[in-house]
Amino acid sequence: MLRQLDEIRLDALNELAQVDEVEEVEAWRVRYLGKKGNVTRILRSLASLPLDQRKLVGAQANALKEELQLSLVDRRKFLEETHLRLTADRRRLDITLPGRPVPVGRFHPITRSLEEICGVFKNMGFQVLEGPQVEWDYYNFEALNIPRDHPARDMFATLWIDSETSGKARLLRTHTSPMQIRIMEKGCLPIRAIVPGRAYRYEATDATHESMFYQVEGLAVDKDITLADLKGTLFEFCHCLFGKERKIRFRCDYFPFVEPGVEVAVECLSCGGEGCRLCGHSGWLEILGAGMVHPDVLQRCGIDPEEYTGFAFGMGVERIPMLRYGIDDIRLFYANDLRFLKQF
Ligand code: DAH
Repeated sequence: MLRQLDEIRLDALNELAQVDEVEEVEAWRVRYLGKKGNVTRILRSLASLPLDQRKLVGAQANALKEELQLSLVDRRKFLEETHLRLTADRRRLDITLPGRPVPVGRFHPITRSLEEICGVFKNMGFQVLEGPQVEWDYYNFEALNIPRDHPARDMFATLWIDSETSGKARLLRTHTSPMQIRIMEKGCLPIRAIVPGRAYRYEATDATHESMFYQVEGLAVDKDITLADLKGTLFEFCHCLFGKERKIRFRCDYFPFVEPGVEVAVECLSCGGEGCRLCGHSGWLEILGAGMVHPDVLQRCGIDPEEYTGFAFGMGVERIPMLRYGIDDIRLFYANDLRFLKQF
């Protein structure tokens, strides 16, 4: 029996040395130390031995049991550590590798200009409103003193949705001025509002013309508003956008929906007034049209021109970043070429 114990010991230790998966350790344990395991079996059979042998074999069997239990713990620990080391090796991070760049989005240069322009007027107490791009002839023209057959319609190459001759024709608004009418019609006075948005013209595109572009319209209606208020507001705006030092020109112009009408120009950003290609050698860059809201327009919107007066202005948006950054082709803004857009 002692020899049998020796054999069991050798087999057990050999097998254990070959176990190389943590899961297999348990099967080995059952085989030797389980209820029906080889060592357990011998311990159980001790009772049938004579006393002197029982002591001897018992002591040896118990020693074997203990030895195997310790070996089992060792082996399991060894296998667990190896497993851990291997997975760690496999998943090792190379912290010296350069990281994958996360592309950062940015605002379109026109969005930024719109925000800047609106920001200046918001600080002066104007609210920002938006209006429809598909507009009625009435708002885009009629109500702004541009009836059918008025020569001013030629200024606006119009994209019609319905035939111009149909009684109630729709079009793509040619400017943001129709919102003046929509705002005044609502009848909430006084008014301080600006309207950023898209406008459309049926024009061949070239470096300075696009069939879709942005404008910002402004409107203020109140008691006792004068041309001086308009001038002060627009000068403040130009100073905020182009700097306090820049000269501003304020002179007469004609728009059917204002009386008097004015045009604002700033000293050329490129030559500082000397005259260059950018300003057509005039030294000035025209940036917006404006005027005092025509009394007929006020009346049409149900506002008494004897009691209220107002001013309005409208500007093209693309022109401003073009002048600022020396962009020489308006089409670049809408071509969605990332090489261009990434520069802003
Ligand atoms: N709507 C005009 C245009 O697109 C610009 C303009 C001129 C707007 C005078 C105004 C204004 O509000 O008072 O050419």
